[in-house]
Amino acid sequence: MIPEPAQSDQLAPQVPQMEASEFAAIAEYAKITFGLHLPLAKKEMVFARLIRRLRRLGLQDFSTYLAYIKHKDNAEERSEFLSALTTNVTQFFRENHHFEFLRDKLLPDFIAKARAGNRIRIWSAGCSAGQEPYSLAMLILDSCPDAAALDIKILASDIDPRILDIARTGEYPAEQRAAIPAALHRFLKPAASPEMFAIDAGPRNLISFAELNLIEDWPMRQGFDVIFCRNVAIYFDAPTQARLWHRFSQQTTSGGHLFIGHSERLSGPAQAQMRSVGITVYVKNPSP
Ligand SMILES: C[S@@+](CC[C@H](N)C(=O)[O-])C[C@H]1O[C@@H](n2cnc3c(N)ncnc32)[C@H](O)[C@@H]1O
Repeated sequence: MIPEPAQSDQLAPQVPQMEASEFAAIAEYAKITFGLHLPLAKKEMVFARLIRRLRRLGLQDFSTYLAYIKHKDNAEERSEFLSALTTNVTQFFRENHHFEFLRDKLLPDFIAKARAGNRIRIWSAGCSAGQEPYSLAMLILDSCPDAAALDIKILASDIDPRILDIARTGEYPAEQRAAIPAALHRFLKPAASPEMFAIDAGPRNLISFAELNLIEDWPMRQGFDVIFCRNVAIYFDAPTQARLWHRFSQQTTSGGHLFIGHSERLSGPAQAQMRSVGITVYVKNPSP
């Protein structure tokens, strides 16, 4: 006798499948909107991350979800989509050799220039929750206590408005304190919660936070002496990466430096415009 299916099987909700055409449409949208590279090999990952969003929203299938995120009123879900497919992982003084390079090789000259009345601009592009720009700001103030009175500024941008809200708050869980060199702890202060600490006004005042999608137009007109764009381009496909490096090269001052992530490499026209001067550190060549 063939047994009857168990009652619970009959009631089990249908798990939506991700059709090949749906994956292709999602990948196309992610590329056009965010520059994300989602090859077919990532289909399982995309399914696993987005199925949670479908469930949360009570949507039946991925085509409906795609239509939902494309709707002009659903910017918040677009952020959720991006967050689900990328990571905001960051930390204070991540890849510390970059900060040592900046402190030892670049800051002395920047400080002299700033004290002579020149502007110095640093951009943390894809700054996530702010640990990268705050690390930069603390380092600058440590070498240049009068930085607030000079024209030294840091732009910190990210595509994700929610992560920028955290960055602006400048409060972090106590366990992240250990990544900050003890000599810089004077730039920290207690936060309202005993489990958190806060960045003091000095470093905060050097930074402006802004929402910016790196694959769209940039509003900045002037050049940057230093650009940190680390662990962001890894999500982009090869042509998008090459275009980004080229745009960074255009956006740096003569002799300006670009710092990229440990698994990233310069490609495309920027290879002729910048040269390597350290581990994933590049300097712009003088104009011919
Ligand atoms: C892994 S975090 C890197 C944070 C920091 N730069 C570091 O290396 O620790 C990547 C960040 O890139 C941002 N991001 C991803 N795509 C972006 C885009 N198209 N434009 C700007 N930021 C983007 C994400 O929101 C995320 O905060």
